[in-house]
Amino acid sequence: MKRIAILASGSGSNAENIARYFSGSGFAEVSFIISNNPEAYVIERAKNLGIECAVVTKAEFMEADKVIAMLRERDIDFVVLAGFLLLVPAKLIQAYPGKIVNIHPALLPKHGGKGMYGDRVHRAVVESGDTESGITIHLIDEQYDQGTTFFQAKCPVLPTDTADDVAAKVHALEYEHFPAVIERMMRTLL
Ligand code: GRF
Repeated sequence: MKRIAILASGSGSNAENIARYFSGSGFAEVSFIISNNPEAYVIERAKNLGIECAVVTKAEFMEADKVIAMLRERDIDFVVLAGFLLLVPAKLIQAYPGKIVNIHPALLPKHGGKGMYGDRVHRAVVESGDTESGITIHLIDEQYDQGTTFFQAKCPVLPTDTADDVAAKVHALEYEHFPAVIERMMRTLL
């Protein structure tokens, strides 16, 4: 049974969706959730799902040793960033090379990079006049949102769409695709 850790900074709806997808799959399980935000609702979701959850400070995360030790102690095979807002330090990437995946709520390389997350991304899409948006699932490297892209899915953006309209379409794509793409990546990369 492969073991997945999820890193999340916010609501954790993707984390919950991924945990439910793998629960009872016989292939993998989400066995650990880490957040850098003690107020994050993902902590509540972890409790309700019976998944161990740890909160680390930004300094602890950037220093990386404590997080690497926690992942190793739990025999984690694959790390999933689902709405995680910190840049992953090189030491952590080197500890899990080709085994850390992120989802970005836009069609990278457009609307990516430092500071581009959540509604800021969807507002940028609307303001740019783009006629489509979507999700990008990619491996993590040492720069924001520049790792190897593994999967993209698109949704139309209408001239009348607000950032919230785009967010709703993008979230739907995330819930539809992210868990199965993670499974495909794990079966390919591990
Ligand atoms: C999602 O839109 C994801 O694409 C982005 O952050 C958001 C996380 O939402 N990286 P949630 O915390 O999973 O609800």
